[in-house]
Amino acid sequence: MFADKKIGFIGSGNMAAAIIKGVIQAGVISLENVVSSDILEDRRRLLSDSHGIATTPDNIDLTSRSDIVVLAVKPQSVGPVLKEIAAAVDKSKLIVSIAAGVTLKDIESRLRTGSRAVRVMPNTPALIGEGVTAISPGSNATKEDLNIAGKIFDAVGQTVMVEEKHMDAATGLSGSGPAYVFLMIDALIDGGVKVGLDRDTARTLAVQTVFGSAKMLLETGEHPAILKDMVTSPGGTTITGLHVMEAGKIRGVIIDAVEAATNRSRELGALSVIKQREPLEV
Ligand SMILES: NC(=O)c1ccc[n+]([C@@H]2O[C@H](COP(=O)([O-])OP(=O)(O)OC[C@H]3O[C@@H](n4cnc5c(N)ncnc54)[C@H](OP(=O)(O)O)[C@@H]3O)[C@@H](O)[C@H]2O)c1
Repeated sequence: MFADKKIGFIGSGNMAAAIIKGVIQAGVISLENVVSSDILEDRRRLLSDSHGIATTPDNIDLTSRSDIVVLAVKPQSVGPVLKEIAAAVDKSKLIVSIAAGVTLKDIESRLRTGSRAVRVMPNTPALIGEGVTAISPGSNATKEDLNIAGKIFDAVGQTVMVEEKHMDAATGLSGSGPAYVFLMIDALIDGGVKVGLDRDTARTLAVQTVFGSAKMLLETGEHPAILKDMVTSPGGTTITGLHVMEAGKIRGVIIDAVEAATNRSRELGALSVIKQREPLEV
């Protein structure tokens, strides 16, 4: 769809590396049209050695050469990077920010009026091509811009379009979600050990159970309650285990966790470093 466009990544850390690998493997963009920058020479070398892409230490040069600029630095670095590249960003370029908590208003206020920006929130399974990414359009982003962002992040998992007001909710659910699932898997493993399994066997049973259950949901499209009922026979083991979970209010705890993380994301967004600076004149 946009194989002819040039894409530049500012910041060549874990996320940028995962996205670059994904878009090249998926054929979304051709190798010669990808460039990445980083302060650290080691990171640049790692990216060029492992993916064969061009790298540069110069963010302004990268911006001038790119149709799509992905901001893949830590949130506190977004302000300084935008200040550096603002003069090189015109309406022909699309800015895609993956920085947690940095709002589109923050970004747009540091660029020329009319600049096109999209904000996305991926999660860590993107590092193995199984992430889920929420995408929100900026005030001047076009349908085509959203399609482009969708194609980029479809290459590292699935994507959903949300209004920016729901970005904190996406952060509280899917951004933090891998940690909730890891915690639950850890508890399942401990449960297995408690009833006499060795830890390796318990791990295999627990991890594949979670993986297989998630895959069943994806492949059948069924409501989770239907699939739960399928394994819950009258007076059996599963209903006995489920009763204990319900008595421990596990659903309420998980809902509360998503809500608390969403609220925390809002708080952190309000404290965002980028907001503490005056908008730039460009
Ligand atoms: N990892 C996740 O699961 C996840 C999920 C959602 C969103 N995100 C967002 O993704 C962004 C990147 O995360 P990450 O884990 O990939 O971070 P990371 O590994 O720290 O990568 C960022 C890279 O950018 C470099 N950098 C800093 N300032 C720069 C500048 N001015 N110009 C060029 N490069 C610069 C950093 O160098 P130094 O180390 O020297 O600063 C670092 O190598 C963050 O904003 C994060 O909020 C990450």
